[in-house]
Amino acid sequence: MEIMKVSKKAEEIPPFIVMDVLEKAHELEREGEHIIHLEIGEPDFPTPGCICDAAAEAIKRGETHYTHSLGIIELREAICEQYQEKYGVKVEPDRILVTSGTSPALFMIFSALLEAGEEIILSNPHYPCYPNFATFLGARPVFVKGYEEDGFQLRPDRIKKKIGPRTKAILINSPANPTGNLLSKERMEEIATLGLPVISDEIYHGLVYGEKEHSILEFTDKAFVLNGFSKLYAMTGWRLGYIIAPAPFVRPLQKIQQNFHISAGSISQWAGFAALKHAREDVDRMKSTYDERRRYMIRRIRELGFGLSMEPAGAFYMLVNAKHLGASSYELAFELLENAKVGVSPGIDFGDNAEGYLRFSYANSLENIKEGLDRLEAYLNGSRG
Ligand SMILES: Cc1ncc(COP(=O)(O)O)c(C=O)c1O
Repeated sequence: MEIMKVSKKAEEIPPFIVMDVLEKAHELEREGEHIIHLEIGEPDFPTPGCICDAAAEAIKRGETHYTHSLGIIELREAICEQYQEKYGVKVEPDRILVTSGTSPALFMIFSALLEAGEEIILSNPHYPCYPNFATFLGARPVFVKGYEEDGFQLRPDRIKKKIGPRTKAILINSPANPTGNLLSKERMEEIATLGLPVISDEIYHGLVYGEKEHSILEFTDKAFVLNGFSKLYAMTGWRLGYIIAPAPFVRPLQKIQQNFHISAGSISQWAGFAALKHAREDVDRMKSTYDERRRYMIRRIRELGFGLSMEPAGAFYMLVNAKHLGASSYELAFELLENAKVGVSPGIDFGDNAEGYLRFSYANSLENIKEGLDRLEAYLNGSRG
């Protein structure tokens, strides 16, 4: 018997393909190349000063210990206030569990909800972790295909066709990674009435341009909200997120938290509290900068001949149709990196329905975005053409 054998599930969990692109980009950079990064999934802004100051003050006050496993009460109350103010929904702090990022929150919800062999409905395309976490837990992701003409958003009638005796939940993500599109209020409402628990990943809430995002809690209580501070507050490295869970799930989730994480980081929680209380102006500033970049990128992407049937109105991504260029999205991402020196994410990372597409991120300066798109234009109209 081999004693150093890696478990099957650890062996089989897929990597993020975009990391392959990023690693190649870093290799080229080490060789002296200048790469424009449009593959990135995190804000290019520094964390706002008022948040960093609050963290420094928390350290000085000695807030450097484990916290309550559900999270500090000040932060949980501030989250409740935000959901009340923004969506008009009443949530009690004892339904909130603060986590070390949205990623562990997602894993915890899947662990609390899914038995081996049960199914969870996901859109295709989707954020790569969703099916990977489900499969890791022995559950089965069931995909509902999205269509480019309506921005790849979930269609309730398509979901209905996939619901069977083993279906346990439906996952929605609006605004979505990788498309940057929103699920309409009507569709969200209809999904909420299908009679299954809905897991709503609301991590891109707040980063919405011109439209209004909705929380699943406006339509049903049979829902798990996932949210976090990484994107809206440019706090990816602080590892802070939270779950709003239906009451019967709080204690089981709390036990998972106690066993796996004990609590979220105390300093990050105080930083998150300051984010909710004091960072509104910083958020508005970042948001209007993203919006300016978004509008510029949409125009240039279309001029370059890529397909973009709906204008993405949220997050900082767009999923563009590159089928006219022939190659697979994986090959194309490497081709553009090596020849035009521009990093983009291959659609295949987000499911087979995004094959032939590329995800562009505008979490980079307008100057870099312009340079990146100029490089693509020169390559596509020049040496490749
Ligand atoms: C849709 C979605 N959910 C969750 C996450 C994870 O975020 P966190 O940094 O809070 O773990 C990401 C990160 O890219 C994301 O795009």
